[in-house]
Amino acid sequence: MKIIEVKDYQEMSQKAAAYVIEKVQKSPRLNLGLATGGTPVGLYQHLINDHQKNQTSYEGITTFNLDEYIGLSAGDPNSYRYYMNDKLFNYIDINQANTFIPNGDVNDPQKEASAYEKLIENHGGIDLQILGIGSNGHIGFNEPGTSFQSTTHIVDLTETTRKANARFFDSLEAVPKRAITMGIGTIMKSKEILLLISGESKSEAFYKLLHGEVSENFPASVLKQHPAVTIIADQAASIKVNVLQ
Ligand code: F6R
Repeated sequence: MKIIEVKDYQEMSQKAAAYVIEKVQKSPRLNLGLATGGTPVGLYQHLINDHQKNQTSYEGITTFNLDEYIGLSAGDPNSYRYYMNDKLFNYIDINQANTFIPNGDVNDPQKEASAYEKLIENHGGIDLQILGIGSNGHIGFNEPGTSFQSTTHIVDLTETTRKANARFFDSLEAVPKRAITMGIGTIMKSKEILLLISGESKSEAFYKLLHGEVSENFPASVLKQHPAVTIIADQAASIKVNVLQ
């Protein structure tokens, strides 16, 4: 794993954007894996700014998001489809028909999960996957204990994750209890991975990722077995790593 340490959230977002823009320019038909949550918001803002200023084009790009809550419609402001439209897709020249996110508003989420896995495969797989990390080590919504072989599936969200995400909802009760997520096996098939880590609340997770054992109890640890992972971490996230190493 290649680690790039940066000063703060702003610098992490700038570096991540530069990384993505370079890939998009080199491969105009890139299959790009995207994440939601607080971490990549700055990255998406930089991509929009660059698109407006330098006209970097996303016309030929296809995107696949990691996950979606079950039970929220695309129009629900807390759905990840809404987030992606609002934070990125509406402001760049991407063809909306080429932006894929699992649909959590279906009668048969199991069928949707299998179809999503096939969809990624049929497009030739993901070239570059952007990831954030949960404080419990989750990637996508793959909570501790998830098989490293897992493909896109349905998950019961842990209390830790629901509490962490409650900040986006009116109350903890409003946070859905289930989601569809790419599996760890799905994520590991990406040709390249860019993991963003920001803030002191992630410092324990970052430390465990670097120094802990590879174990299904800490999903992100699987990334040590991937041949092309780059981590961009800010100083606050690195506080334990730097003190304890
Ligand atoms: C989001 C996702 C999650 C987040 C993680 C960190 O699509 O799959 O794994 O990356 O929960 O979330 P934030 O960035 O809000 O701290």
